[in-house]
Amino acid sequence: MIRIAAVADIHFGADSSGMLRAQFEDLTHHADMLLVAGDLTKCGGPDEGAVVARELTGLPVPVVAVLGNHDYHSDEQATVRSHLEDAGVTVLEGETTTVDVDGARVGIAGTKGFGGGFAGACGTDFGEPEMKAFVRHTMALAEGLEHGLRSLEGCDVRVALLHYSPVRDTLAGERAEIFPFLGSYLLAEAVDHAGADLALHGHAHAGVITLLSLICQPFVDATRLSPAWRWFVRIGVPVSGTLISAGFFFSVLSPAATEPNRAISLIYIGAVGLAVSVVSLGIGLLRAR
Ligand SMILES: [Fe+2]
Repeated sequence: MIRIAAVADIHFGADSSGMLRAQFEDLTHHADMLLVAGDLTKCGGPDEGAVVARELTGLPVPVVAVLGNHDYHSDEQATVRSHLEDAGVTVLEGETTTVDVDGARVGIAGTKGFGGGFAGACGTDFGEPEMKAFVRHTMALAEGLEHGLRSLEGCDVRVALLHYSPVRDTLAGERAEIFPFLGSYLLAEAVDHAGADLALHGHAHAGVITLLSLICQPFVDATRLSPAWRWFVRIGVPVSGTLISAGFFFSVLSPAATEPNRAISLIYIGAVGLAVSVVSLGIGLLRAR
């Protein structure tokens, strides 16, 4: 059995030291490797890169990562990568690595990937130079991914590690208008052409909370709570998720931003709301038993 732990969008800031260290150190009991699918930092500053690198230093399992768009924001991606590699993390961008697990060889091809959209609603390399550059960047990264996966054909298991999504299915819950900025079908074509046993990506975390809110809805009716409290729980999860997403985006909206502004407080408000809503739902279900 090959056990792969994967995480993405941990968005470490300069003040995030120690937030995940205990969980990472415990990995040896649960996984044979840790894959990190990008956005390790909030804004890609060297200080944030150093903090997240310390968090990943000397873990009991191999750690393989790709960078995400947040890690590029400060134009210091080379420094972030250097910090991670100094910490023993294998960082992939069009490159590959292998991890041996009980005699089986796991090959991992990684790329940040980029946007462009999906079948029926995608950009093409046509028109203005900026549009061509946008789409050709994705094409180049997809070619690198395909080449990397093909070079791993002798492995027992092949994994495609991405930050941007190769398919729209895993973007469920995100606004369809932003799908072209969340991934590209070109990445899926690369995976399909070369073949892979598993594809992992990050980047689309708002949809996860929206998905959670949809899952919670049927359970609300089964709770033993007052009508007002039920109403609170019913809207609490999606509203909290929206606040968390808004905090992420609005806190670093300015291109010149090197650290989050006051809008970061939306994340904490949303987190509290989410916790209260989910715990209330759990209590309501227990009371109904
Ligand atoms: Fe991202």
